[in-house]
Amino acid sequence: MKVVHTLTELRAARTELPEPLGLVPTMGFLHQGHLSLVQAARKECASVAVSIFVNPTQFAPTEDLASYPRDLEQDLRLLEEAGVDLVWAPTDGDMYPEGFQTWVSVEEVTQQLEGARRPGHFRGVTTVVAKLFNGVQPQKAFFGQKDAQQAVVIQQMVRDLNFPIDITVCPIIREADGLALSSRNTYLSPAERKAATILNRALKAAEKAYLDGERSAEKIRKVMYDKFQTEPLANVQYASCADPKTLQELEQITHGALLSVAVYIGKTRLIDNIVLLEMP
Ligand code: PAJ
Repeated sequence: MKVVHTLTELRAARTELPEPLGLVPTMGFLHQGHLSLVQAARKECASVAVSIFVNPTQFAPTEDLASYPRDLEQDLRLLEEAGVDLVWAPTDGDMYPEGFQTWVSVEEVTQQLEGARRPGHFRGVTTVVAKLFNGVQPQKAFFGQKDAQQAVVIQQMVRDLNFPIDITVCPIIREADGLALSSRNTYLSPAERKAATILNRALKAAEKAYLDGERSAEKIRKVMYDKFQTEPLANVQYASCADPKTLQELEQITHGALLSVAVYIGKTRLIDNIVLLEMP
């Protein structure tokens, strides 16, 4: 496994890799969720590259950039075991050179959900992912359904800017008790860790209501809000029942839906989601 930092090193290493090349973009502190993307890439590609970069421009000044967990040594160990060919851990200077002033901004599907609560977040994500794509020039790239809106936004960007890259969205990997794996789970105290299962429990309750025949989006959202009321450590920011493509809130569920939640457990902000499939 080759590890590179500068763009010059990356370009030299890139020419040696057999194609199709798959890219898994990450911010590091890797867990099984990230590694599931690597496995998917290995299945579909002749070689696999992983980028590790905690991207400052997708964090608001009030967010957790400084405390975001980092452990490059352990990440490299995990990626080596997973059979990755190339790791790119870019330098800040290559990603945001002095005087940087060019941004990639997706306009509509960034307005709702995470985009509405984290101003500027997706502009940072799309800009850095465009730069990662330009650097690595993969044929395929792999993202997690865990960040459902991010996956929609990236697919929109790839279409709009004609990136010749095929995007695969992989399922959410969860702990045995349903908590979605996230680098931010390390912030949770033991009591908060227990309380954090409320995200998946609320989503599952809403899914059950849907499977039992409920089609009013408002009632589905209420099932989730009511569930969050039962957990004193949870402070819900939103519980959404939206169109999976446009991400607009629904009134009636006619063609499936994306249920998504953002919840503070203590000071830690967690997100999760579930897709309701269209039913005959
Ligand atoms: P990060 O949070 O490190 O996540 C990297 C990738 O792993 C994302 O595509 C994310 O959806 C996926 N992922 C995280 N947890 C997962 C889980 N439990 N199951 C399946 N996939 C999971 O997302 C980012 O980094 C950044 O925004 C990035 C795209 C790298 C741009 O900076």
